[in-house]
Amino acid sequence: MSKPDNTVKDALALGPENWADGEDPLARRRGGRIGAPVSRLDGPLKVRGKAPFAAEFPVEGMAYAALVFSTIAKGRIATLDTAAAEAAPGVVLVMTYRNAPRMRPMQQFDSSEKAGGADTLPIMQDEHVYWNGQPIALVLAETQEQADHAASLVRVTYEPGHAVTSFAEAKANGTDTGDFHGPLHLEIGDAEEALRAAAVSVDVTYRTPPHNHNAIEPHATTLAWHGDELVVHDATQLVTHTAWTLAHIFGVDESQVHVTSPFVGGGFGGKLVAQHQVLGAAAARLAGRPVRIALPREGVYRLIGGRARTEQRVAIGASEEGRFTALIHTGTSATTRHSAWPEPFMLAAHSHYAAETFLLDLQTAYVDMVANGSMRAPGGAVGVYALECTVDEVAAKLGMDPVELRIRNEPATGPTDGRPFSSRHVVEAWRTGAERFGWAGRNPAPGAVRDGEWLVGMGCAAASHPYVRMPGGAARITLTDKGLARVEVAAHDMGMGTETAQTQVAAERLGLEPGQVSFRYGDSALPGLVPAAGSQQSASIGAAVVAAQHALVAELLKLVSDDSPLAGLEADEIGAVNGGLAKLDEPERYESYASILAGAGRDEVSVEASGPPPLEMMNWSMHSFGAMFCEVRVNAVTGETRVSRFLGSIDCGRVLNPKTAGSQLRGGIVMGLGLALMEETQFDERRGRILNASLAEYHVPVHLDVPEIDLIWTDLPDPHAPAGARGIGELGITGAGAAVANAIFNATGKRVRDLPLTPDKLL
Ligand code: MOS
Repeated sequence: MSKPDNTVKDALALGPENWADGEDPLARRRGGRIGAPVSRLDGPLKVRGKAPFAAEFPVEGMAYAALVFSTIAKGRIATLDTAAAEAAPGVVLVMTYRNAPRMRPMQQFDSSEKAGGADTLPIMQDEHVYWNGQPIALVLAETQEQADHAASLVRVTYEPGHAVTSFAEAKANGTDTGDFHGPLHLEIGDAEEALRAAAVSVDVTYRTPPHNHNAIEPHATTLAWHGDELVVHDATQLVTHTAWTLAHIFGVDESQVHVTSPFVGGGFGGKLVAQHQVLGAAAARLAGRPVRIALPREGVYRLIGGRARTEQRVAIGASEEGRFTALIHTGTSATTRHSAWPEPFMLAAHSHYAAETFLLDLQTAYVDMVANGSMRAPGGAVGVYALECTVDEVAAKLGMDPVELRIRNEPATGPTDGRPFSSRHVVEAWRTGAERFGWAGRNPAPGAVRDGEWLVGMGCAAASHPYVRMPGGAARITLTDKGLARVEVAAHDMGMGTETAQTQVAAERLGLEPGQVSFRYGDSALPGLVPAAGSQQSASIGAAVVAAQHALVAELLKLVSDDSPLAGLEADEIGAVNGGLAKLDEPERYESYASILAGAGRDEVSVEASGPPPLEMMNWSMHSFGAMFCEVRVNAVTGETRVSRFLGSIDCGRVLNPKTAGSQLRGGIVMGLGLALMEETQFDERRGRILNASLAEYHVPVHLDVPEIDLIWTDLPDPHAPAGARGIGELGITGAGAAVANAIFNATGKRVRDLPLTPDKLL
């Protein structure tokens, strides 16, 4: 597949300084397409059941797959009897390490430009077992029921090896520190000494359990080989990476693998390339049949790693006026040797508060389990929880209002790197949020407000997530002689409204009405390397669309005739407006797109361009921020917590579409309520098996657990982000959990530091 090159010269010409529309005198006439609360364009398809998901693509002659999972955490398969399964009705094939095709190991996401794997283990290549739940056989049959039944007939015995499945043993074996987009260890000054000398200090340990992925759509793939070409209908956050990764594993060219993923029922970091896609493709090759592999809910728990367990020390020293003199955030997370994915909980300490000294460190302890991976706000979800609860502890000790304490420690520049903020309006978010929530009415004395048997409290917490724009964003814009535009990017819509918001962004950029623009995505044949990860899609797509629009203007200027009002103008004198191009300071010199193409005798014009390298991330301290406010009612008899009110006051740059952005932020906050109150993977430390591998026993919030979530935003464009917008996909979950926990403290006087805050811990 050909991907556009991006030269440094282009990058400089199209750099971040050219993103802001503020200086463009035509911007206002474009009609404010960005910022309109447009309803989801894919909504009607979805509610009518006409949006095809990965497990719904019909393929002629398809066989259905079922997996058999190991029941030991480490060792070897001793005996494997597949005869009964092979003889069962409808069975096409039983694949094990004995007959699986030879495959190269997976390459982990982030390990190279296009790698998209969840771990680096060999997949069904030998008799070794690496985790409890590893697939050891795959059954293909004519129906799903036949495959499931035959899978139950596979008989296995094991020679178990010693598995490290307890956190205590893993820590005792020794830990190490790694690198995750920057160092995981940082010291500024002598924080331990500053802590000892501080007028007021808090030094506490927070513990968070593992969490598993529970997207509404379980992982699924429908795929077919045509010779050496592989067509994959997948549920993925990274179509292009998936094509590359499968090509690498099966030894074919990247251009021979075509991945589509038009609709994804939630990703949250869990929908990368895992073993099911690889095993499905291997079985399809072996059987010479198209294959559908749709994981049951239990299969998602066995195969897809989630958030790692953490044990975090947070220590803050403060002066009597509440100025932080020491900020220490260190600790350990449990991960696997075959996934270098850490849980960098100390990242938020880089951006939240000014402090005189810092000590930040993440140690990794190794256990034998399914490769843990990325889950919404890796590090941040649990790290902001611990940090922001500790700040609340400091406020209580100082007898200071927690909002005022945070504002008092507001940094002027990036606290650990001294970089200027690209845009930061955190104090405004606190002030407007406190006003709207009625924070002044909070009784600061814990346990003081009672309504019958309910204890009522209010809490708050800061939220943050780093701005990311990964390299590789590219876009193709095709303009037709009807004046319609098609914008194509190999991006993803996992339910967040990408298509809708990006249609608005492109319409504004091209001077068209949203109805004149179509946005195509979810297909590895389209341009760009744009994973839906790291809250970065909008920035990546936005930068690429700016670059492509510049290229389009240059191309159109080549086509204008000598008597065109635009004749003789340079690209940088031109803006897009009213379905055509006009001279920026002389808008009556205008010609419509349709007229330019007609004059040149062209049906369409198509250009492709890459976004510039993400230099803005190096030049600025860039983060999305929020101030979260929560009211809870805790039952004094049962210990049950009800969240009664919630407000997010958000500072994320410009809001591209308040409706879709609001849904995304609310979704993150709901996940934060779950993190605080109920989510917990129960991991059997004796056998290394997940015990609660179903939504019946792994609890997430349901509608009755979620109050109306109020949102307000500063909505101030970030001059260094494409379209002025920073990321929001992960922001909501950060801070939400701490706001709940701090409200529980205010309601009850109980400070529980081990998540989740279940009723038994509050009695
Ligand atoms: Mo995300 S956890 O970067 O999908």
